[in-house]
Amino acid sequence: MTGFRRRDGELYADGVPLARIAAEVGTPCYVYVRSTIEGNWRQMSAAFGEYPHLICYSVKANSNLAVLSTLARLGSGFDIVSEGELERVLRAGGDPAKVVFSGVGKSRREITRALEVGIRCFDIESASELKRINALAARAGVVAPVSVRVNPDIDADTHPYIATGLRDSKFGIPLEQAIAAYRAAADMQNVSIFGVAAHIGSQITDMLPFTDALDRLLRLVEDLEEQRIPIEHVDIGGGLGIRYRDEQVPGAARYVAALIEGMRARGFDLPLLIEPGRAIVGNAGIMLTTVEYVKSNGDKNFAVVDAGMNDFVRPALYGAWHDIVPLLSDSVGQTRRYDVVGPVCESGDVLGKDRDLNVVEGDVLAIRNTGAYGWVLSSNYNSRPRPPEVMVDDDEFYLVRHRETIDELCAAESVLPE
Ligand code: LLP
Repeated sequence: MTGFRRRDGELYADGVPLARIAAEVGTPCYVYVRSTIEGNWRQMSAAFGEYPHLICYSVKANSNLAVLSTLARLGSGFDIVSEGELERVLRAGGDPAKVVFSGVGKSRREITRALEVGIRCFDIESASELKRINALAARAGVVAPVSVRVNPDIDADTHPYIATGLRDSKFGIPLEQAIAAYRAAADMQNVSIFGVAAHIGSQITDMLPFTDALDRLLRLVEDLEEQRIPIEHVDIGGGLGIRYRDEQVPGAARYVAALIEGMRARGFDLPLLIEPGRAIVGNAGIMLTTVEYVKSNGDKNFAVVDAGMNDFVRPALYGAWHDIVPLLSDSVGQTRRYDVVGPVCESGDVLGKDRDLNVVEGDVLAIRNTGAYGWVLSSNYNSRPRPPEVMVDDDEFYLVRHRETIDELCAAESVLPE
């Protein structure tokens, strides 16, 4: 499912030609499609059927208020990692009772605010954090709901692409220390144990790591039950991958079915929480960029575009591959092999290497599947204002973040007194 389609050779976002957005808003700019975001969420939700669950969209993937409010209206929960993300969820109309708070470094201020608004659960990642939450909850006169985020140590040999669920990563509490953490929590006055949680990594294209991790969590739940520590939900985190190039991905239905199957296989019917980010918004966004210059060094052709690594960093940061296509399929030029590069003064500022494109200067290109970890990772490097964001809703489009101005760029700074 994707809301980006060609009609008579021209690329549209739902009912809106992308060329119109490029002309009215300018480039570079991000474009999201509301129906795709909703469709992705609904597909995942429907896959659960009657099984008790909560989808906690991972705000870090795309935190634009229009995206969050779209999901809040569907009844989504949210996975947050900072006070800023919490405030965004609240401003977008999200229900704090459906918010889970992950992250290894929650500050006192962040915890206090989350207690104040009454979130569903803190996923604690260390014994010290547990103590801090207990103390702050006591001060506020409340009881904090907690889960322990365990590090399930999914075998690197089997799943080398997984970073966060490995023993030596900074995330979570090792499985063998989890029971002690739960016991400590059970003895505290101002925390109540709610669940178990894990998050094993991102852009995972195979079900096995998820079902392995779930199985390890459920064994822990069994051990806890033996010790009379009841668990009320199982949170398996996010991580379901999407197709960027030719990856074979399980898809929402298979993913959810395998999780439910994993629960039932061990005789559980506890509510399942998932924290998808990329799988909800990844294919719902593209970035538009204009070819400023075309040049050749004799061996290589370069298409210099107006978006750089500050606007979209995944290719430079992770070597990620994103499809790059012209908005019009009948450009007057010739197909040549290009490196598509940005204006930033870094050799790493490459958006796509060795792309066969038929482009001339002035053409607009779409960089696909940039709805997740796109704008949120943008920066002002080279003092470049961050790009605008547009949401397409059927035949309409809305500017949901304007292009940063030079005044905004400098607004937080000051010169020294004379
Ligand atoms: N839950 C937790 C605790 C997480 O740390 C993450 C992502 C998610 C959920 C959502 O994962 P997703 O469903 O989106 O895979 N910047 C990288 C991805 C970093 C993911 C960090 N954690 C990228 O552009 O590929």
